[in-house]
Amino acid sequence: MSDLDKLFCPKSVAIVGASKNPKKIGYELVSNILAGGYEGKLFPVNPEGADVMGLKSFTSVKLIPGDVDLAVIAVPAVYVADVIEDCGQKGIKSLIVISSGFKEVGNTELEDKILSIVRKYGMRMLGPNVFGLYYAPSRMNATFGLSRVFPGNIAFITQSGALGIAMMGWTNLYHIGVSAVISMGNKADIEESDMLDYLTGDEMTKAVLIYIEGAKDGRRLMASLKGSTLKKPVIILKSGRTEKGASAAASHTGSLAGSDKVYDAAFKQSGALRAYDFAQAFDWAKLMTLQPPPQNENCLIITNGGGVGVMTTDACEESGVTIWPLPDDLQSEFKKLMPVFGNFKNPVDLTGQAYEESYSKSLELAFKDPRIGSIIVLYCQTAITDPVAIAKSIIDTCESQHCDKPLVASFIGGQQCDEAMRKLDERAIPAYPIPERAVSALASYYRWKRYTDRLEEKSAQS
Ligand code: ACO
Repeated sequence: MSDLDKLFCPKSVAIVGASKNPKKIGYELVSNILAGGYEGKLFPVNPEGADVMGLKSFTSVKLIPGDVDLAVIAVPAVYVADVIEDCGQKGIKSLIVISSGFKEVGNTELEDKILSIVRKYGMRMLGPNVFGLYYAPSRMNATFGLSRVFPGNIAFITQSGALGIAMMGWTNLYHIGVSAVISMGNKADIEESDMLDYLTGDEMTKAVLIYIEGAKDGRRLMASLKGSTLKKPVIILKSGRTEKGASAAASHTGSLAGSDKVYDAAFKQSGALRAYDFAQAFDWAKLMTLQPPPQNENCLIITNGGGVGVMTTDACEESGVTIWPLPDDLQSEFKKLMPVFGNFKNPVDLTGQAYEESYSKSLELAFKDPRIGSIIVLYCQTAITDPVAIAKSIIDTCESQHCDKPLVASFIGGQQCDEAMRKLDERAIPAYPIPERAVSALASYYRWKRYTDRLEEKSAQS
């Protein structure tokens, strides 16, 4: 039992500042919660007490009959303290304060005031100055971001609200499933560490992605990271890498970015994976939420193009992914699956004449052999082969083999390749339009796996 259970899985929610006006945030919050399929009780709170979207509303949280687990507050900052006091008196233990106008604009006194009320009643507060919280297991979209979110296995914690909302759109566009989206805002009470601790125990979350500008309590964050990374990969995007970036972060969220080198070292020590940009972070998270971790250091490349196989080999070697020199027995097995001019060493080049069967038989071999720990499958578009049919053969083989090692794909070519990759993604095989992106994702998975293996070894020795 965690004191954040009622924030993530409330049985009843009050929206304070709920409005009938579709241009208001208080309208969007009610609308998103309803659209998301939330099954608990929903109580709009509005000074007029007028119905909102067919729901009976109340003029104060104190007048709501029965228990309320969570209050989402979207009223102008000047009223927030009074609303929180009412919530405390009502016995509400969790708050999401959407309202802006606190520390982020220099109004420290008001932020301290609301925090003292939160502490007085033993409540937990997300915010203020947040866009809300989405949590797939409770089907609760308590945000004024997008109404449609694909449920899945990436949890996204963000210090930037606008970026968070934009990311919700991005995950929709690329069919990336999300378990949680959490806007951190001013972090007056709840910090990233609290969220990490909670998500570490969350079964739906397989990887966590954090956008952070600065930590309130670096040591605590590091301890939470250490606890989380033992269980699941944590990918961090920390902005303010440069001096000017750090000063931009200071004026954006008031974060004291500190020395970027110190953060970098702390992330490494705690097993967190630092990504350079959003595209990279999502590339990594996609692999880590769709596929199991590498089984051993031996990576196999299967391709229909020699050049792209060589480029991918370079990318692997440069990023610490080992291209396994195939032993004789496997070489002779692969040799049977390709024309005489193919290459049965690693990368295995099935040649431009590789059809569905060559791909599926090669994959079958790779899946079955326990000496292979991870697989990269590449396809370059040719006039005589159909990328969508090849993608389907890869999916069928993967599903029939119940594979326990990670498979990443890269299809290089035109529109049909895009369609093929969409099909692969939809069936949990992460596909990337550029092989180096597939390698980067696999390399980061290896880094995380090595980190956890090292820790396990250490604890077995002690
Ligand atoms: N109790 C209940 N309802 C109240 C109370 C109260 N004490 N006071 C006001 N209300 C109602 C209002 O009557 C109104 O409902 P109505 O439309 O039916 O009249 C509703 O609450 C909203 O109040 P308004 O005064 O109309 O305020 P408005 O909706 O314009 O703004 C808001 C409120 C959204 C909280 C605004 O003050 C604010 O802080 N905006 C910024 C939010 C934000 O960006 N957060 C950070 C997100 S992160 C990012 O960067 C995207």
